[in-house]
Amino acid sequence: MDRIILIGFMGVGKSTLGKKIARRLNVPFIDSDNEIEKIHQKTIGEIFGEIGEIGFREIEMNFIDSLEKEKGFVLATGGGMPCFGNAMEKLCTLGQTFYLKRSPKELMHRLINAKQKRPLIDGLSEEELLIFIENKLEERQEFYKQALFTLDRNEQNVDQFDKIIHLRQFPQKS
Ligand code: S3P
Repeated sequence: MDRIILIGFMGVGKSTLGKKIARRLNVPFIDSDNEIEKIHQKTIGEIFGEIGEIGFREIEMNFIDSLEKEKGFVLATGGGMPCFGNAMEKLCTLGQTFYLKRSPKELMHRLINAKQKRPLIDGLSEEELLIFIENKLEERQEFYKQALFTLDRNEQNVDQFDKIIHLRQFPQKS
């Protein structure tokens, strides 16, 4: 039973890669933000506006719990999901976690035109966005680093897709 969990900063490419892997493994693809929006019939921005970040993190935590009953899946988490309470511990118990890593500069370029749907960075200038990413990454690193596997997209010479397909056969860190 494949339960692949992709974690990493906003804009790193969790959903794009996740969809491909799910198709290859023939299991459902789950995007936590999309599912939470469907369940609550609200956008992530509206949820943040109504109950704040703390409220959103509680929803994310409940969402992780709801996946325990699912069989195989590929999950793309929201960027902050693993970094609150014992969420990372729960994710590691739930399936095989893969941390997708990119440099702050690269993330900034990928996010600069994709800020509107993301309340934490909406309205930031290019310069402010880079500083935000550097600080948040630093803060979140300790959680992301607990993933079973880390894949650095900048230094990658093997296609990441094939690497995940290959690594998933190993229950332990290599
Ligand atoms: C967040 C990342 C977003 C979304 C929310 C908060 C974060 O998901 O969950 O805006 O705290 O990093 P993506 O990583 O899919 O952008």
